[in-house]
This record gives sequence, structure tokens and C-alpha cells, in this order.
Amino acid sequence: MPAKDKVVLISSYKKFTESWIKAFKEKAPEIDLEVYPDDTMREGTKFILCYDPPKGVFQKYPNLRLISSMTAGINHILKDSNLPQDVYVTKVNDPLHKYDMATYALTLCLGHIRNMPVYATQKRMKEWKQQVYQRPEDVEVGIIGFGSIGQEIGKLLIKNDFKVNGWSRSSKDVEGITSYFGRDQLDEFLQKSSILICVLPLTKETQGVLNRDLFNKLPEDAYLINMARGTHLVEEDLEKALKEKKLSGAALDVFSDEPLPENHSFWEDEKITITPHVAGIVTPESVLTSLKENYRLINNGEKPNDTVDVSQGY
Ligand SMILES: NC(=O)c1ccc[n+]([C@@H]2O[C@H](COP(=O)([O-])OP(=O)(O)OC[C@H]3O[C@@H](n4cnc5c(N)ncnc54)[C@H](OP(=O)(O)O)[C@@H]3O)[C@@H](O)[C@H]2O)c1
Repeated sequence: MPAKDKVVLISSYKKFTESWIKAFKEKAPEIDLEVYPDDTMREGTKFILCYDPPKGVFQKYPNLRLISSMTAGINHILKDSNLPQDVYVTKVNDPLHKYDMATYALTLCLGHIRNMPVYATQKRMKEWKQQVYQRPEDVEVGIIGFGSIGQEIGKLLIKNDFKVNGWSRSSKDVEGITSYFGRDQLDEFLQKSSILICVLPLTKETQGVLNRDLFNKLPEDAYLINMARGTHLVEEDLEKALKEKKLSGAALDVFSDEPLPENHSFWEDEKITITPHVAGIVTPESVLTSLKENYRLINNGEKPNDTVDVSQGY
């Protein structure tokens, strides 16, 4: 009898392991899910599914073909400088997950223009004070990192009457949205972004991009939403920009240090909305279909879907 197909799960987040084992048993019984370090016969492993793997672990798999990230980000894989050559790296690119990211962004944009964070503060102070609100059609939102998730966010925002611009490395063609691209067009894009949403991947070029210089190019009272990675943001620069009223507020889903330490000053800042990295949570149910398809493609010697360019870092 031929050996059963096999995927090895390598994750530092043990609490998710059970749900992945259960999902594979129910929805992909033709594939055995083995969990590192208890997996067997490593020379037969072609497919690794992982989050935050230990450094050097991939070297233990001589016939590896695919490293599949359990999230849309891949930094946790690329931090391994010993990544094997000629192995595909893929990220999550799932419609449900992207939709979750988009509804998160929409919720925050609507909350901001209807002053919800201000009313949360007023409630604590038992203060009854009506604030002036804006309508979506009068608000221009800039999406910095206009890729797969950014475009999904943009489409949902224009459906809800916001004006939307996107900025990426290369030009994009999305109906109803103006595409800005490259360094030369960044300033013009920023000048129009009353709300700036960051969904850039974390690379050498994008680390620390949300800094004082950038904030100074935004319109007065701009609002920042960072739902990409914590180290895109220079934290002291945000605190200064809020203090100086350059920015009117910020919503942060991601932090340099997660969970955000108890003594972090962000907790005390009424102008900062904090969510615990929940903009889009990948569930095995939502991505299993695409994983199975990639397994099939790899077995057929074909290129899998949703590969990333390791040399670019995203
Ligand atoms: N908070 C959460 O729960 C959560 C969940 C999922 C993902 N995320 C974050 O969201 C990020 C984006 O995911 P995605 O799937 O949308 O990635 P993606 O499809 O690769 O899109 C990235 C976009 O950023 C642009 N970009 C990259 N480097 C750039 C640079 N130096 N200058 C200008 N533009 C640049 C790319 O431009 P081109 O298109 O021109 O290449 C692309 O449009 C992930 O990396 C992850 O960090 C967060």
C-alpha cells in the first residue's frame, strides 16, 4: 500500500495545534498531519505548515518542497537565514480571512468618523457632549500596502461611500480607487489620507515607515490604523504626534511586543484604540481548501498558489 500523504505542522503556538489536527481529520482525511518534533520519517516530508518555526528546523527535511505560512505574513519564516534553496514559500491568501481584515478596517473607519473612541472616554468621565461627525463620502482613506488585503479593504470602503486611494510598489487597477505607486507618489498619496490604513508587509524597506516624517505629510487631524505589523510603527513618534495633535487618534492591532506589556504607555492613551491582533484570524476551516490544492500541485510537480518572493521579503 502506498504511504499516505503527509503534512508536518511546526508551530510555537501549541494552543492552535489541536484545532488543526481536528480539521485535517475531518476535512482532509487523505492527509496525515504530523506535529513537530514528534513527526516521523522526515526524508518523506514535502510539505510543512508553520508559524514561528525554530531556527534551522527546515534543514532536517532534505526533500522539502513547500513551506506554507499559517498567516498572511512570512517574516516568522524568513528570519531563518538557513532557508533551503528551491523550496516554495506560500502565505495565506484566503477570501474569508481578507474579508475579516476588511470588516475590521471598515469598523474602525466608521467608528472614527462617528467619534466612538471619544464617546468611550466621555462615558468613563460621565460626560454628555455631542461631537461633530463626518460622513464617509467626505473622507479620503489611504491604504498604504495596496496588495491582496489592502485591495479587499479598499473595495469594502468604497462600497460604504468612502473615497479611497491605495499606495504600493507597482500600479494597480481597481475600479473606483486611485492607485499611487513608488516613492515619487508617496507624498501626494499621504497628503490625501485623512485616515491612513497600513497593510504593508514587514520588510527591510517598510520597517519603521509609520514615523514622524510620514505623520507630518498627512492632513491635520489624520487618523492612523495599523493592522500590519507592530514594527512598522515608531512608537515614540506616534505618541508625540498625538500629543502635538498632529494626529487625532490611532487604532493599533499589532505591536512590536505582543502581548502589549501591562506597563506600556499606549494602554493609558485615550487616543489609541487597542485590539489584541485580531483583525483577521486564520482558521484551519477557512484555508484547508487552498492547502489541499497546493498539496496537489506540489505532488504534480507544479508551482503552488500564493507563493511569495523570498528575495523581496513578501
Ligand atoms: N493584523 C492581522 O491580523 C493581520 C492579518 C493578516 C495580515 N496582516 C499583515 O498584512 C500584510 C499584508 O498582507 P497581504 O497579503 O495584503 O500582502 P501582499 O498581497 O503581499 O501586499 C503587500 C502590498 O504592499 C506593497 N509593498 C510592499 N513593499 C512595498 C514598498 N517597499 N513600497 C511600497 N509598497 C510596498 C506591495 O506592492 P506591490 O503589489 O507593488 O508588490 C503590495 O501591494 C501582511 O504581510 C501582514 O503583515 C495582518
